[in-house]
Amino acid sequence: MQHTQWYKDAVFYQIWPRSFCDGNGDGIGDLWGVLTKLDYIASLGVTGIWFSPLYPSPQADFGYDIANYYDINPEYGDLDLFRQVLDGAHKRGLRVIMDLVVNHTSDECDWFKQSRSSRDNAFADWYIWRDGKTPGAPEDGGTPPNNWDSLFEGGAWEYEPARNQWYLHIFAKKQPDLNMDNPQVRSEVERIMRFWLDIGVDGFREDVITFISKDPALPDDSPLIPAARGMKFYNHGPHVHEYLQQFRHNVLDHYDCMTVGEAPVISPEQALEYCAEGPNQELNMVFTFEHMGADCMFTDWVPRPFDLRAYKQAVGAWQTGLAAHAWNSLYLENHDHPRIISRYGSEQYRVESGKSLACSYLFLRGTPFVYQGQEIGMTNTHLESVEESADVSTFNQVRRLRELGVPESVCLDLTNRATRDHARTPMQWDAGPSAGFVGGDGGGIPWYPVNPNHVDINVAAADRDPDSLLAFYRKAIELRRKLPVVREGSYREFKRASNALYAYAREGAGQRLLVVCSFTEEIAYFSAPAGFDLAAGELCLCGYPDAPLEDNAFFLRPYECRVYLWNDES
Ligand code: NOJ
Repeated sequence: MQHTQWYKDAVFYQIWPRSFCDGNGDGIGDLWGVLTKLDYIASLGVTGIWFSPLYPSPQADFGYDIANYYDINPEYGDLDLFRQVLDGAHKRGLRVIMDLVVNHTSDECDWFKQSRSSRDNAFADWYIWRDGKTPGAPEDGGTPPNNWDSLFEGGAWEYEPARNQWYLHIFAKKQPDLNMDNPQVRSEVERIMRFWLDIGVDGFREDVITFISKDPALPDDSPLIPAARGMKFYNHGPHVHEYLQQFRHNVLDHYDCMTVGEAPVISPEQALEYCAEGPNQELNMVFTFEHMGADCMFTDWVPRPFDLRAYKQAVGAWQTGLAAHAWNSLYLENHDHPRIISRYGSEQYRVESGKSLACSYLFLRGTPFVYQGQEIGMTNTHLESVEESADVSTFNQVRRLRELGVPESVCLDLTNRATRDHARTPMQWDAGPSAGFVGGDGGGIPWYPVNPNHVDINVAAADRDPDSLLAFYRKAIELRRKLPVVREGSYREFKRASNALYAYAREGAGQRLLVVCSFTEEIAYFSAPAGFDLAAGELCLCGYPDAPLEDNAFFLRPYECRVYLWNDES
């Protein structure tokens, strides 16, 4: 099968199904709702959809705990409805990728139910079982096999009396890790991939895929490491490349599909081991975390102000680090991070900073992902108490803080700064009572409260306003798609030391593009670098209605952004 690398021209829209659109009126987002919004998604100019997990799941981690890999969560619809959505998406030129979560399953998956029942059953070796360091149940003084932390819920091991053994869970207790060293498990992963590819999906976003191979010795980590103890023994583990190559050669090579792997704590050099183009390429790109001010998804809890220089440095390192051999992914929001305007921009200059943020990443080299609501500038919500959180990782962070004696008011502040709930409030479609999220005639109440600011910030209002962020996203995405330089060009950064401006050029394919974004409410000054004659360039985008120049320079108003283009033949 010839791989066409279609993903290099793609722009994806991420749907977190529970909060996107409720079509049947029960207060929970679903595929009936998605079906009614396909025209809207296509109107953004994007060319693909990434669905966060749609599978049956007890929803302990909102679908990242899968009970059955071969079906659709009945709350969201069924396989027939999924086929209709897929067909509707394809008819509109939208490819569809599924979330593939195979580092772990739900503890309610049949495989785990059997595995935990005895040491001697068909699934006994499908998960990572070990005897305790000290034998017996914890209440009888038994201790876990090693000192690793889970990323969600205290220690990484849970005791199972029926086996008198412990199972590993890098995430919550309800998310036991699969034993990928077992060839039967790897064949099952292949079967899952084929099942969805044969239905017609176009690829996968692979959840924490760099975690799938554990150091078989499962050694203790240094007790001095304060959190995520053990990660160095399971991230980029001994067989990860072998297993990913198996999936590629046995399955992915036979379909014109794409993969993006989530990769916490990774350098550009390590990323090349996964993504460098060639016969042994394992993934088409990886999702990295450095530009999010985090090594991994959970360090948002460390309070630190946004540092533009650090952001630019991270972006630059990845743009140049992969340029010769591999392809980048680009994102600013997803279901795991607070809203980007609240984090890196300004709620006061919401539309302006949203436009600047859009330009800061949409013209980079790589495949951009836009998260639901990002395109209308949804912002963080406000929790009055930590108990309002619905997020398993937040519960755990707060529990740890409380154990350390952190005052309740600080726990609440940190929750409001970092919780994943911010990205998971229902999508704001209109100014009505449920923000237009609840459809049908069921009169359901949204499963999570809508952000009260939906009265002003919503799709219907943005659609009526030609200067809205939504209108800007549409223009920016269209522009990106028609300029070869965005796919082909090199990356050059200016004003590196500035803590106010992010300016970069893309050069190649007979074009030059200059992107200048302000990250401050102060007036900032930009003078064009040698060789860029602003008056001769085409102003393609500006975050304000006019774009005055002074000689070959300009002053940027709060959070202003501009994009200039030169066609070299002209
Ligand atoms: C990463 C996913 O993005 C996140 O939402 C999930 O909680 C963890 N992986 C565990 O699956």
